[in-house]
Amino acid sequence: MSLEGKKILVTGCAGFIGAALVCKLLDANANVIGIDNINDYYCIDLKLARLEEIKKKKDQSRGSWHFFKLTLEDKKSFKKIYFEHDFDVVVHLAAQAGVRYSLINPESYINSNLVGFGNVLEMCKEKSIKNFIFASSSSVYGNDKRLPFNEKLSVDHPVSLYAATKKSNELLAHAYSHLYKIPTTGLRFFTVYGPWGRPDMAPMIFIKSILERKKIKIFNHGNMRRDFTYIDDVIEGIYRCCFKPAFCEETKSDFSSNAPYRIFNIGNGNPIKLMDFINILEKNLGKESKKEFLGMQKGDVVETWADLEKITNWIDYKPSTSLDKGLFNLVYWYKNFYN
Ligand SMILES: NC(=O)c1ccc[n+]([C@@H]2O[C@H](COP(=O)([O-])OP(=O)(O)OC[C@H]3O[C@@H](n4cnc5c(N)ncnc54)[C@H](O)[C@@H]3O)[C@@H](O)[C@H]2O)c1
Repeated sequence: MSLEGKKILVTGCAGFIGAALVCKLLDANANVIGIDNINDYYCIDLKLARLEEIKKKKDQSRGSWHFFKLTLEDKKSFKKIYFEHDFDVVVHLAAQAGVRYSLINPESYINSNLVGFGNVLEMCKEKSIKNFIFASSSSVYGNDKRLPFNEKLSVDHPVSLYAATKKSNELLAHAYSHLYKIPTTGLRFFTVYGPWGRPDMAPMIFIKSILERKKIKIFNHGNMRRDFTYIDDVIEGIYRCCFKPAFCEETKSDFSSNAPYRIFNIGNGNPIKLMDFINILEKNLGKESKKEFLGMQKGDVVETWADLEKITNWIDYKPSTSLDKGLFNLVYWYKNFYN
């Protein structure tokens, strides 16, 4: 099977995961259209540099690449683009990400993650999209103690607005999938890290502070575990879903429906203690960190751990990057990129 010549829309294409996905799709000679509003939630230069990387990829690809700078809430401009194209696959990654920022700027979550998401669903409906994939998040599991997190768990107790918008996305997408028979796959990503990563996330914040010999803030006194997932493993998971549109579950259960709709975890399946994570990072940087131990942050969760059985059965997803290797690659990229 091949994606050569397939037309694929990627929203959030200047973002961490979006840009990496576009590069993978161009490697597969797909015709990719990217949308991003290049907002200033974090450094715009990093987003523009990712777009430059995509252009380089395009030069080695038989596929095509077109970028549109627009915000998904601008339905009129968005509509113009989607009526000009027939997409084989839509991968919706654009969102206001970040748990902590949702305490500071709740409006951006309502706009991007609810209004913007609604516009994407309308587009999928109007164009009868045959494969719709969207980003959800491990944060929907909140502070559930039933680990590892399994997709069968009810996720009705979000502890941040960000998580609440992601859970809402899952519900809205299910309704559209049911009503308009849109094959829909929701992917719950678990703490993605790697080269070209997000500067608002712990791995990049820690690297910057350690190199600048500043204190790193360690919340919940270090008593946290995260299922850190390397970017290439996440991208492989999304890529495989591009070949496999969701269909109704064959065997009915209390929690299944007739909609061609699936939700999957995409994680590493191997949670790491925060202090172990910091140790490996220090080893890679050749520098010890100065630590400031603090209490738990509002909206944060203590532990995440993905149960991967469902996604493994679906697309044979097998994350293969060790934390050692992943952090080595991240540090190598960071030092080069930020000189
Ligand atoms: N990175 C992770 O660890 C992680 C974990 C769980 C879920 N996710 C989800 O995966 C997706 C991608 O995350 P990421 O880490 O690449 O984030 P990111 O912030 O790097 O990328 C998102 C991109 O979307 C764009 N965007 C935001 N709102 C938009 C709008 N309304 N219209 C157009 N463009 C808009 C931003 O400019 C940004 O470039 C998001 O939906 C995020 O919530 C990420």
